[in-house]
Amino acid sequence: MKFSFKNDYSEGCHPNILQALLQHNLDQQAGYGEDEYSLQAKELIKEKIKNPNSEIYFVSGGTQANLIVISSILRPYQCAVSASTGHILNNETGAIEATGHKILSIEKEDGKLTPEDIIPVLEGHRNVPHQVMPKLVYISNSTELGTIYTLKELEELSNFCKENNLYLFMDGARMGHGLTSEISNLTLEKVAELTDVFYLGGTKNGALIGEAIVINNQELQQDFAFNIKQKGALLAKGRLLGIQFLELMKNDLYFDLAKHANQQAMKIKNAMKEKGVQFLSDTYTNQIFPILSNHLIEKLSEKFEFYVWKKIDEDFSAIRLITSWNTGDEPVNDFIKIIKTEL
Ligand SMILES: Cc1ncc(COP(=O)(O)O)c(C=O)c1O
Repeated sequence: MKFSFKNDYSEGCHPNILQALLQHNLDQQAGYGEDEYSLQAKELIKEKIKNPNSEIYFVSGGTQANLIVISSILRPYQCAVSASTGHILNNETGAIEATGHKILSIEKEDGKLTPEDIIPVLEGHRNVPHQVMPKLVYISNSTELGTIYTLKELEELSNFCKENNLYLFMDGARMGHGLTSEISNLTLEKVAELTDVFYLGGTKNGALIGEAIVINNQELQQDFAFNIKQKGALLAKGRLLGIQFLELMKNDLYFDLAKHANQQAMKIKNAMKEKGVQFLSDTYTNQIFPILSNHLIEKLSEKFEFYVWKKIDEDFSAIRLITSWNTGDEPVNDFIKIIKTEL
């Protein structure tokens, strides 16, 4: 069987999680997120973000988190702003739009938004009340392109949002990877301080399923649980999510797993760089986008699965490689060996 570099959710879950699920399998627990594991996991997350006033809610997936957060925050005439590469724009089947909210797209190659990108959007929506009202800025860390925000960039964006009465929402489907990148100077505590809402993705970082939505802005906490239930996302067996996040948060397993995934990607990236390979974006997380000849892509495809991301010209394409919490050295070394012999 070919080894897959297609995704960071190709495997099941970290063994600690399976063990905990088995260990607590027959315990009787309260339903709908009131179980003791969920309560403990929430406390651990609050400790890590150093904000006892944040509220935490577990849901099962990223699209669900984005949909519930955005649709519950916005009034009917308000809209979200996103980089053109944003997951909510391209890969969620119009889930946000289906709730009646427009998403204004800002063309960005690197997947990141700055205040300068958003200013023209605000200026272009001053014809009150004839246009939708931009109210929420959607960003992700790491982004769809594996890029990350620096502390300064997030501070600038956060200040800009406050000055302009906009909510800042960070999609953290790959938060662990973003924060443990070798070039990141952002911490979870800072993310909590600088955003109104963010989430910690478990699905792509060693959980079976699950994302932890963290609401820092107390105005937005009110009645949030009703939105979760109404969207069908409140699991009767919420213990499944609680146990997983408890294990991930204990001893920083969450960050260790993400760091491992990043390191495996960096090994491949560095080996390619030594051979002069160019990349679609200069990433330091578990997603890399090398530009390779179609001949080499064919050769690599004999042993590995990955996505061909973008055609560059007749002879070259960018591929996307994603490593996971469970990517071992063997496939990484085998991949590098082919690169070294073919280039
Ligand atoms: C940044 C980001 N947000 C959200 C999602 C959606 O997650 P799910 O597939 O669990 O709905 C993904 C999935 O790839 C993602 O990469």
